[in-house]
This record gives sequence, structure tokens and C-alpha cells, in this order.
Amino acid sequence: MKAKKRIFFVIDIVYFNITTIDLVYENTEQLLVIFVIQIKNIRIMKNLIGIDTLKAEILADKLNDLLANYQLFYQNLRGFHWNIKGKEFFELHLKFEELYNDAVIKVDEIAERILTLEGEPLHTFSDYLKTTEITEAKGISNGVDGVKITLQNFFALINKEREILAIAADANDEGTVSLMSDYIVQTEKTMWMLNSYLK
Ligand SMILES: [Fe+2]
Repeated sequence: MKAKKRIFFVIDIVYFNITTIDLVYENTEQLLVIFVIQIKNIRIMKNLIGIDTLKAEILADKLNDLLANYQLFYQNLRGFHWNIKGKEFFELHLKFEELYNDAVIKVDEIAERILTLEGEPLHTFSDYLKTTEITEAKGISNGVDGVKITLQNFFALINKEREILAIAADANDEGTVSLMSDYIVQTEKTMWMLNSYLK
């Protein structure tokens, strides 16, 4: 009868979710089989709301990227609201105000979703500027230019929202799926309207 060997070790599944593995085996092939079974049996760690911690962390990172982009988008809209000139001033002044009021609500919702997933929302302009894909729009006084930039910014945001929705669906994170789904529907409609304005 072959002598049994034993191996015992500690693994860190995802950032300090420490698990111990104790394997008893006779030969290398058996060790491999037992090891694979043990790994499959290890329960994936869940966060406060029952989402896999690793997936929640990825989602929080993606939402932070969206948050940074929304902050730049918000500030661009304020600039357009203030600086736009010309015959369509009254119309666009109000439209940009409506859009930044909506953006500021989304900024708060995104930050609080990150916290719900047990992440930390970015909250400094230096971090936003390091993270964002949307760039600062400076000195825009022409209404058409302001609308064109807004449309481009929406395009960047909606692509990020679709990516987050797909990751959230894979993580069974219905809360984030629902949030992104609402944003996408609203953004698509606004993009159609802004595009119609430009024709
Ligand atoms: Fe104002």
C-alpha cells in the first residue's frame, strides 16, 4: 500500500479572503484531481449585498470611470450654459441647464452605487482628470459647437454604460443593470433630439 502524503496551505482568493486547503494524496495525478475539486468547492466570497467581491470590485472601478466622465460632462454643460451667445441663447441656455441638472443627479447615483458595492467613489478633480476620457471644453460660445460636443460626450458615456451593464448582468447585479438600463434609454432619446437639432 502506497504511503499517503499530505499538503496544507493557505490561499488568498481575492484580497484577504483567506482560505486553507488541506490535501491528502498518494501520487501527483491524485493531488491534481483533489486540488481541482477543492478549488471548485471553495465558496466565492460575497459582499454585503450578495455580489461576488471580485466582480463588485471590477464594477466599482468601471463606475468610477463613468463617474469621472460624468463630472467632466457636467462641467462642460455648465460652461455652455454660461458662455453660449447668439440668437438661440435662451433656448440653449435652458437646455444645457436641464442637461446639467440631470447629470448632477446621475453623478450622485453613480457614487452611491459604488458605495453600495463597497467601493470608494472618486471625489477629487485631480482623480477625475486622471481617469476621464471626456475632455474639458473651454471657451465654447457657439451653440452648435456646444451641442456637437455634448453629443460626443454622450456617445462616450453611453458606451461606458453599455459595458457596465454587460459586466453587471454577468455578476447578477440587478441594481447596477437597472441603473445603467435607465441611463441608456434616457441618453439615447436625448442623443436623438440633439442630433435632430443639428440637422
Ligand atoms: Fe444658470
